[in-house]
This record gives sequence, structure tokens and C-alpha cells, in this order.
Amino acid sequence: MLKYIKISLLEVLEMPQWLKDAVFYEIYPQTFCDTNGDGIGDIAGIISKLDYVKSLGCNAIWLNPIFDSPFMDAGYDVRNYKLVAERYGTNDDLIELFNKAHEKGIKILLDLVPGHTSDQCEWFIESQKPEKNEFSNRYTWTDSVWEAPPQYKFVCGITNRDGNYLVNFFSSQPALNYGFAEITHPNWQLPPSHPDCQATVEAMKDVMRFWLDKGADGFRVDMADSLVKNEDGEKPETCKVWRNIRKMLDEEYPEAAIISEWSRPHTSIGAGFHSDFYLDHDNNGYRYLFREKDKETGECKAVFSKNGKGDITKFLDDYLDELKAIKGKGYISFITCNHDTPRMTKMFSPLEAKLAYSFVFLMPGVPFLYYGDEIGMKFMEGLQSKEGGFSRTGTRTPMQWDDSANHGFSTASADKLYLPVDTSADAPTVSAQEKDEDSILNTIRKVIKLRHENEDLQSDGDFEVVYAESGKYPFIFKRGKFVIAVNPTDKEQKAPCKFDGEQVFAIGKACVE
Ligand code: NOJ
Repeated sequence: MLKYIKISLLEVLEMPQWLKDAVFYEIYPQTFCDTNGDGIGDIAGIISKLDYVKSLGCNAIWLNPIFDSPFMDAGYDVRNYKLVAERYGTNDDLIELFNKAHEKGIKILLDLVPGHTSDQCEWFIESQKPEKNEFSNRYTWTDSVWEAPPQYKFVCGITNRDGNYLVNFFSSQPALNYGFAEITHPNWQLPPSHPDCQATVEAMKDVMRFWLDKGADGFRVDMADSLVKNEDGEKPETCKVWRNIRKMLDEEYPEAAIISEWSRPHTSIGAGFHSDFYLDHDNNGYRYLFREKDKETGECKAVFSKNGKGDITKFLDDYLDELKAIKGKGYISFITCNHDTPRMTKMFSPLEAKLAYSFVFLMPGVPFLYYGDEIGMKFMEGLQSKEGGFSRTGTRTPMQWDDSANHGFSTASADKLYLPVDTSADAPTVSAQEKDEDSILNTIRKVIKLRHENEDLQSDGDFEVVYAESGKYPFIFKRGKFVIAVNPTDKEQKAPCKFDGEQVFAIGKACVE
């Protein structure tokens, strides 16, 4: 049966216009490029690689947190929102990065962590004091150390204040207080409308203004759905907070973008985000495309596996509903990977990864390339956890630039590096892949170039399913005048479709009759 679904995204309004053709590069600053030989990446290193980022076709960068922090969670535990961590440079260096990037037509998104701070943040130090002060309610505290309802995650009895504090992620990350949607413990839970909860919102706006005034182009927003507690599903109170923040942006910084870590576009776009990440979650479309495994046998069931055991309809069932819901209001961001998930090369061969990564840049919405994926960097197994990375650590290893010491990442001795570099014989590098026309690097460059040259392939372009059958290949879809046929299997696959026109691009063998 021929399935034919057409969704038009043409009516996207009131967007920062640059998102229409934005292609992002995610940089984990710790391991991108170290210019002062201390074994850890820095802002000067990022500046030195802007031409490289541009050469990929990426015209925007998302920087993982770069702020002062004790780094119990790689910087997602912010101690001072308005200060660049010394190990990366200074506030002036970051401003220089904004300026140099802008000269080259590259936007910079910072990482905003609104749900929690470090337990060393000045606000939290004040909040711990038994005497009432401006910050007493900046975090959520029970009103006695003997109270810790089991449905919440509290840290108990380690301060002089008589109460336990709610955490948002690790124990070192106390939750900022945006209130409770449903109040079950009136003695210590506040409603979101309480002036102290509103003060938290204003404090976050103040942080945003601080960096936007200095030249930042917006924010990737960490755990954007985690603000108001005690609400599931559509989270109306958390959405209210974001609509309030979006209003401020529309009025004061209409070109600034906010992109949410929420992974529920039909909710987050309505809350005011310009785009929402499509992340790897149990039973969602992204999982079916790239990471699905048989729960019992462990066999790969991802659509992009060459074993041909994936089911494209499971992806579409989830994705098309989300796409329809956000029509004209915002975007979905596909990612090649991020700092929290195993690189696709953990499951896929370089050719499978090349196809999967290319697909990311052929979809509507605002795509993200994770540093190192463009050369097929591997997920390094068996590393000791670093800065709260745990199972995520293998995805955060140093960028592999060339064949010099530490693959050109740093001149520090190997034992001083933030994480070890991949020293295996087949470790990919930028310099080697530059020379190979067919490398992942050069293929991705070509796909991104094609996207920039054709509005049909950009964020707002239409997406139409042409042929998608459960358990069958190829998967065929249209983006405007382009027909894209996906066949990651190692066999020839046929579909009952005929198309006129010339082939503009092929990765591997063509598959449409
Ligand atoms: C999501 C971030 O991507 C992750 O790295 C971090 O550990 C948690 N949020 C907590 O901030």
C-alpha cells in the first residue's frame, strides 16, 4: 500500500529568521581544542576552530555549559551563571568568541540550566542559612529535617537549616523553586504564583539578559520541563513560566533562539520554545531510527541498521503526530548524538553511521551535529567516569584532529588530559578524512551544502512520506522537489514507485526502481 502524507510547515511565523537555515554544531568545551596545554579545551581553542566549523556548513554552535562550576556534572552544576569557568578563559574571551563567530556568520547558543544550580552557588549558600533571607525560598526545603516524602528526591540533614532540600538531578544539584502545581504539603510547598517563585523566574531572565546583551544568540535549555513540580503530561504551570520568558525574548531580543531539552514538541513549542530536541527515549521515534534493540536478545532493531530489522512505521507513528502538532509554530531538532548518549558508532559501522548522520540533515527542523560525529569518532568503552559522566563518559573524549600527539587536541602529556584520546590504529581524524572524498566528513559536508542550497531541504520545507511499510525497505520520502530513498540494508531493495528526474546525490548504492 502506498502511504502518502503531506505536512506543510510553511506558515512558521515570528521565528528568529536565521533558524530557517540553521545547522548546529555541538561543542563539549572540555575536549574540543586545548590551546594552553593544560589538558582541557578552552575558548581560545574554539575560536581557533571556527573556520573548521564553517567548513562543515554549520552556521551555529551550541556550547555545553561554560560557566563557573565545581564540575560534579560537567558544568550542569552552575556555581555562578555570570562568570566563565577559569579553565575555559574569561568573560572577555567568551565575548570575543561571540564577535569572531558573528564575523564568520556563526551564531552561538549557550547552555542555560534553569532547573537547578550547584550546591556551591551563592544563592544556595544563602538558602542554607537558618535565618530567613532573600534566598530562603529560592530552593525547595521541607520545614523540618524529619520530613522527606518518598515521592521526592531530598538531601537530608547536612545543613544548619532545619529542613531537607529537593534535588533536580545529582545530589549536588538542588532544585530551584518554581513552585508546585498541585500542593500536597502546604507547610512547605509554594504555588508558582508566590512572589518567591516568581523571583526565581526573574533571576533566570536576568541571567539570560546578561549574556544576550553581551552577544549570545540564545540558549539550549537544560531539563526545560523540570521547573514546576508535581505536574505531569502537558505541564501547564511549567509552560506558563516559559511563555513568560518567551514574551520577554520577543519584546527585547526577537532574534534570540531558545531550544529545549524536553523531547515533547507538541508541549514545548506551545510553551514558547523555537525548537525542541528529539532525544533518545524508550519507545519514541528517535529510538526506533537509531537505537532500538530487542529487549531479550539485544539484537539491533534500528531502522538504520544494515540487518534490515527496523520498522520505519514505528518512527513515523510518533514523529508525524509531533510534526503535525507544531506546524507553523516551531521546529523539531534531530541530533546525530549529544553528550548524554552513546555515539551511533557504538552500534553502527562507519557506513551505517554515515547514512544515519546524513538523514539528520535531510529532515525538517533545526539539525545538530555532535562534535566528532562528522569523522565517525567512536564511543570509547571502559573509561572511568569523569565529572559525573558515568556511562556517558565514552561519548566525551577529545576531538581527533590529526596524527600529532593526542591527535592534535592538546600538547599536554597523556596523563594530564581531561579524558584519554582514542589511540586505536583505526581512530579517525579530520586530517585523514579531509583527503578522502568519500569519508564521513566529506559526505556530511556535501549533504549540508545541498541543504543550504535548497530551501526545500531546510527547516520549513515540506515533509511527505511516499513509501513506508512496516518491516520493509526502502523508506522513501519527499522534501519539496527532492525524493529521498533510504536503504541502509546490504541488499538491493525495491519499491513500487516511479520518479522522473536526475539523481543528485547518492551514498552507497541507489535503491529505487
Ligand atoms: C541534561 C544534560 O544534558 C545532562 O548532561 C545533565 O547531566 C542533566 N541535564 C542535568 O543538568
